Amino acid sequence: MAKVKKRIGLSLGADLCWPFCYEEIIKRLDLELPIGKRKVSFEVERVSIEPHRLRETSRYDLVMDRLTYWYRTSREWIKKIAIMDDTYVLNSPWTFQSMEKQTSYCAMMRLGMPIPETWLVPPKEHEETADLKPTMDRYARLFDLGEIGEKIGYPLFMKPYDGGAWVGVTKIDDADQLREAYDQSGRHIMHLQKAVDPYDVFVRCLGIGPQVRIMRYDPSAPQHDRYVVGENELAADELALLRASTLTINSFFGWDFNSCELLRHTDTRVWHPIDYANACPDSQVTSLHYHFPWLVMAKIRWSLFCAATERPMKLNQDWKPYFKIADKDISFEEKLIEYGKLGEKHFETAKFEEFCERHLGHLEEVVMDFFSSDEAKTIIRDKVKTMFPEHEWDEFTDLFWSRVQSWREHQTEVAS
Ligand SMILES: Nc1ncnc2c1ncn2[C@@H]1O[C@H](COP(=O)(O)OP(=O)(O)OP(=O)(O)O)[C@@H](O)[C@H]1O
Ligand SMILES: [Mg+2]
Repeated sequence: MAKVKKRIGLSLGADLCWPFCYEEIIKRLDLELPIGKRKVSFEVERVSIEPHRLRETSRYDLVMDRLTYWYRTSREWIKKIAIMDDTYVLNSPWTFQSMEKQTSYCAMMRLGMPIPETWLVPPKEHEETADLKPTMDRYARLFDLGEIGEKIGYPLFMKPYDGGAWVGVTKIDDADQLREAYDQSGRHIMHLQKAVDPYDVFVRCLGIGPQVRIMRYDPSAPQHDRYVVGENELAADELALLRASTLTINSFFGWDFNSCELLRHTDTRVWHPIDYANACPDSQVTSLHYHFPWLVMAKIRWSLFCAATERPMKLNQDWKPYFKIADKDISFEEKLIEYGKLGEKHFETAKFEEFCERHLGHLEEVVMDFFSSDEAKTIIRDKVKTMFPEHEWDEFTDLFWSRVQSWREHQTEVAS
């Protein structure tokens, strides 16, 4: 059997915790997988930032990227290796063009998802350019903000059309607050979105390939308490709906990893997606804590599957099959089941599960063992040090550590 080494590159920015865990667990797994007529092993390496010759061949079979959504030099390099060397890159750099909330809202509205009523308004202030004044004088129509607020209804949320990390997000209860918030919005292009109000459940659904973890989320809690500790307790039909919604969104945009936020309206019980263009999703132990080992394990599974089976990267998006379903004369629930099937097909769920069963049966045991080690605790502590003042290091290291241990206990219970 010919031996093949697959080299996995990690393209990283400030990420600290999951890459160390990922590298260490892959080292411990020490895999040599019989795939077809070859024996496949893996090597993980961090990608450096340096000049590159355009004709240079990529060292990597797969690159897991967390940097290029803001760091353009690496984005250009990643696009180059995807085009020239067939390197599998996740997430696809081209899909960052679809990352704005506006595009993602429009696309999912087209599929019939119950996105809350949303308007986009021109910015309050513009950057001065030579053409600005004549353009505005000729074409910018005065508009009545209060009237738009009335049409949407209160409460509503004002938030940037391309936002993230809650920057510029304001809850608005009446016309005065709306004017005040708009006056302060500067050059941001803003959405006004009807609030899902009241809601009884808020979830974040983290998708990594065909793996979806549905986590309850409390946005009113401090950062380290927002993801609710423990398993969600939603009914099977709701879990199926959330999985289908997540896989629809992720496959539609070509996101191998992404996080989708949905809120369930208390009275109607309808799940409204409100924010799902998050293709560089939260991956820190300091926010995910209990759910963090799942993230590490899911990333390992999916990246090894893609590298070992030489899954071809889909360079172009194809939205026609989704729109074909959207245009059918059937209910949204029926459509969602069909979109979900496209998602399962895109992420090769059956083939992936078979791969995991055949080759990674011992992964969970290695992960469980790793997350009981001093090494794992040190990684958590090092991350805590970057986020908290010194007098809180012990307290928060212990807190996140104990939540990771709760996850381990839960896994043991499930297995027995
Ligand atoms: N339509 C809505 N109904 C109810 N709550 C909302 C709505 N839109 C936003 N929110 C609240 O505002 C918060 C931030 O909004 P949103 O998630 O859209 O912004 P963001 O900047 O992308 O945040 P992040 O990157 O942390 O997800 C949400 O977590 C939620 O609590
Ligand atoms: Mg959000």
